[in-house]
Amino acid sequence: MTIDQAGTYSLAGRDVKRLGYGAMQLAGPGVFGPPRDHDAAIAVLRAAVAAGVNHIDTSDFYGPHVTNRLIREALSPYPDDLLIVTKIGARRGADASWLPAFERDELVRAVEDNLKNLGLEALDVVNLRLMFDVHGPAEGSLAAPLKAVADLQRQGLVRHIGLSNVTPTQFEEAREIAEIVGVQNQYNLAHRNDDAFIDALAAQGVAYVPFFPLGGFSPLQSEALFDVAARLEATPMQVALAWLLQRSPNILLIPGTSSVAHLHENLAAASLTLPEDAVAELNAIGR
Ligand SMILES: NC(=O)c1ccc[n+]([C@@H]2O[C@H](COP(=O)([O-])OP(=O)(O)OC[C@H]3O[C@@H](n4cnc5c(N)ncnc54)[C@H](OP(=O)(O)O)[C@@H]3O)[C@@H](O)[C@H]2O)c1
Repeated sequence: MTIDQAGTYSLAGRDVKRLGYGAMQLAGPGVFGPPRDHDAAIAVLRAAVAAGVNHIDTSDFYGPHVTNRLIREALSPYPDDLLIVTKIGARRGADASWLPAFERDELVRAVEDNLKNLGLEALDVVNLRLMFDVHGPAEGSLAAPLKAVADLQRQGLVRHIGLSNVTPTQFEEAREIAEIVGVQNQYNLAHRNDDAFIDALAAQGVAYVPFFPLGGFSPLQSEALFDVAARLEATPMQVALAWLLQRSPNILLIPGTSSVAHLHENLAAASLTLPEDAVAELNAIGR
């Protein structure tokens, strides 16, 4: 198996393999507290890098702090080609809730916490995660928090800036303030609100990283998906990932898992090509 078959796309000036890994699932239940099995979490991260993954998505609000500390323990000193993408803009309540954290001092602290817990002097990519609505993009100006992140970039603590949970209007507003290297929004076979946005970003050469590529906390369930997978002798999750790879060249994948077996299954999607009739059937799911 080689993930190189899926090719690369440019993110933050690097050639990033299109199959990466999202580390959120490594924290405890509800993305809160320590993992159920610490050694298994370490094994997943090492297996990802051993399989050629050079793009890992994380945040210090996973756990909080848990996921970043696992990444540091498993992978530091980091391989030269590894791009670690983190996000700021939220914090966790004592009850595991997800709360906005957009004030300048909160953003500064979030960058400092990411640096400390990942063991880095500068962060490769920081996504500003908007929280006007925790569940999906909602309009509102991002100028004030983004200017704070741009100041941290000028200080050398942040190398590149991306956005998460944003609308096309907010992306345009952001580009007046800073160079934006990527967008990370919810998108998968069944959740296709960003179809036009993805095409517009592709035309501008900007990476799009779908979160919940497998459906997130409730993985995708669809007769059509199961049928196509059975026909192609692949698993439904592999088909869901292959569909994203074929959907647009600027899509970089970060499927999440806490299991080495699922990790290898997901990475094997790199070598799966969906025939046209399968793509047409899968396209019907999101309509
Ligand atoms: N920007 C944002 O707001 C935001 C929000 C959410 C997530 N993210 C990022 O996006 C990444 C991906 O999202 P996600 O991890 O939440 O969701 P996901 O990748 O859509 O799905 C993860 C879920 O699918 C299961 N799974 C994974 N591979 C599987 C397989 N081969 N067969 C069966 N089940 C499988 C996982 O369980 P197992 O552990 O049992 O495999 C887990 O429950 C995250 O890790 C995080 O880095 C960003």
